[in-house]
Amino acid sequence: MTDLRTAAEAARDRAYAPYSGFRVGAALESDDGTVFAGCNVENASYGLTICAERSAVVAAVTAGHRRFRRLALVSDAVHPVSPCGACRQVLAEFAPELSVESFAGDEMAAWTMRELLPAGFTGDVLP
Ligand code: THU
Repeated sequence: MTDLRTAAEAARDRAYAPYSGFRVGAALESDDGTVFAGCNVENASYGLTICAERSAVVAAVTAGHRRFRRLALVSDAVHPVSPCGACRQVLAEFAPELSVESFAGDEMAAWTMRELLPAGFTGDVLP
């Protein structure tokens, strides 16, 4: 996971977070090993802020990738952060089996998507 963590850290360094001052970086590995990074992009209209995880998903899907294996997450927090609820839903759309690892210093936390979003809403039920 080291390379994926490094990619997430590089993305965090490019975060646009002038309002919260809280930078987040994500790196998403597709099923062919390609890595897509994302950072949080805030807005003066706060609710329009895009999280790092969703930025990474959008970059990957735009490039034609829809299947993912792993996500690395880093932030400015002292302890590993977990993806917010909105990002869990968006990640689950493409990667219900995703492995998520979050890093902060020497600490690491790991989850599966099923742990992060049990009984989530899926497109299966749509007509
Ligand atoms: N943020 C993320 O990028 N990912 C998350 O999973 C949680 C929160 C960002 C949004 C906002 O720019 C800042 O962190 C503070 O909430």
